[in-house]
Amino acid sequence: MKKTRHWWERGIVYQIYPRSFMDSNGDGIGDLAGIASMLDYLKWLGVDILWLCPFYPSPMADFGYDVSDFTDVDPVFGTLGDFDRLLAEAHRRDLRVLLDFVPNHTSDRHPWFIEARASRSSRRRDWYIWRDSPAGGGPPNNWLSTFGGSAWEWDRSGQFYLHTYLKKQPDLNWLNPEVRQAMFANMRFWLDRGVDGFRLDALWHIMKDGELRDNPPDPDYRPGGKPYRALQALYCGDRPEIHPLLRRMRRLVDGYGDRLLVGELYLPIDRLVNYYGSVGQPEIHLPTNFHLITTPWRARAVAVTIDRSEAALPPEAWPHFALGNHDRPRLAGRLGEGQARVAAMLLATLRGTPSLYYGDELGMPDVPVPPEEVKDPWEKNCPGRGLGRDPVRSPMPWDDSENAGFSAGRPWLPLVPDWRSRNVAAHQSDPGSLLNLYRRLIVLRRQEPALHSGTYRPIPAGGDFLLFFREAGRRRLLVALNFRSGAGGWRSRGDPAGRILLSTFLDREGERFRGRLELRGNEGVVAELE
Ligand code: GLC
Repeated sequence: MKKTRHWWERGIVYQIYPRSFMDSNGDGIGDLAGIASMLDYLKWLGVDILWLCPFYPSPMADFGYDVSDFTDVDPVFGTLGDFDRLLAEAHRRDLRVLLDFVPNHTSDRHPWFIEARASRSSRRRDWYIWRDSPAGGGPPNNWLSTFGGSAWEWDRSGQFYLHTYLKKQPDLNWLNPEVRQAMFANMRFWLDRGVDGFRLDALWHIMKDGELRDNPPDPDYRPGGKPYRALQALYCGDRPEIHPLLRRMRRLVDGYGDRLLVGELYLPIDRLVNYYGSVGQPEIHLPTNFHLITTPWRARAVAVTIDRSEAALPPEAWPHFALGNHDRPRLAGRLGEGQARVAAMLLATLRGTPSLYYGDELGMPDVPVPPEEVKDPWEKNCPGRGLGRDPVRSPMPWDDSENAGFSAGRPWLPLVPDWRSRNVAAHQSDPGSLLNLYRRLIVLRRQEPALHSGTYRPIPAGGDFLLFFREAGRRRLLVALNFRSGAGGWRSRGDPAGRILLSTFLDREGERFRGRLELRGNEGVVAELE
């Protein structure tokens, strides 16, 4: 087995959506000082690496993913001083901090774009992607914006510009060496300040086909799906030209010692793994694998996704699974409360670095948002299709005081309706809560090298059971997960005997079994084998 693993291999990522975590000044929107005030909670929970969604100055058309200055803090979230205090306080507690860096685009209010669009001969014109209208009129090609409509916007300066997301998020031209230098300087700004790395937003989009060829239609597209899925994203992303660029980015980050790059890459598994780079030419440390979010929640299907993910990994590559994030329906909403516990155990016991989305440790469901309170531009552009992300971004409920202890003011999005009972304080004092299960899982993972660093070995299983071993040296742990609400059992050849270390119901610790392991409905266990 490999020697000691890096902090980012052993640790657990916890994703914070700053607007919704904790508000320190009563404006109804979370902020950096609010996050700093909750670090002891995160330490108690046991997570290691905090990923902060964007807090840079922004007109907030996409709530911070439209950046107008990469090297400052938006006043709504605080000041650079607040950031420095948060980072110092996190480091004092041995918590690492990752920033969300947005390389694909800026805000249309970024000074670079204001200058670029001022005239066709602007010094910064080529920092973005401009094209003339083709002879017959209309946009330069058929590419679609992720948030609906064409990916091209006609500009009064007499050309179209490309925007993979909102028209208020023009795409940067990474082919331009000045853009590369400027963006690398922005990364250095934060690395010099001491951040531990970046989560790179929409990473597969940053290089496009040089000829901007039309994307072909997707024969599997069903009307009513996400509009941009009507075309296969062949030419607007995941281009081979990206890899030399990522190798340079990695060298930059490696120049600072042991820092981390996480990549947001919505790609099939066989293409996702290309982003690790190769031996001697590393790229992204942890390309995020989102496939368990979309895999149907059945033991067989989940096993196939894990096995395919493991099999595709290059040598030495380390997996990075997420079961939720700020763009996708909430875990507990997708699976129901019973299976949310099984999912917690899966996430904490899989090989690789898990990513936990704030609020999932409380089993937060999607929180409905009435039409007049919709904030997300995706919902506004494609109303009523269930694409809006507001429901997965509702404020963290801390206790049963006014506004769930999140803010002294009216929260920017509605609270989860049952916040008086579903909140951190209530879950902390209930020994059987989901929150306490997460905490126990994280403690166990930290204690057991087999879990945080060991190998993964699937075990064939019938029914709706998912079984695997995690092993380190002579220590062998069995993870057994029942995906059904009905009880069942597992028996294996050789009459195995063992002892349960943890059940998702938190009530079987120390129980011994021989030959057959019984599982209740919706139960998962971690056991040591004799
Ligand atoms: C990523 C982010 C998403 C954002 C988009 C545009 O997919 O996760 O929240 O809207 O990029 O920046």
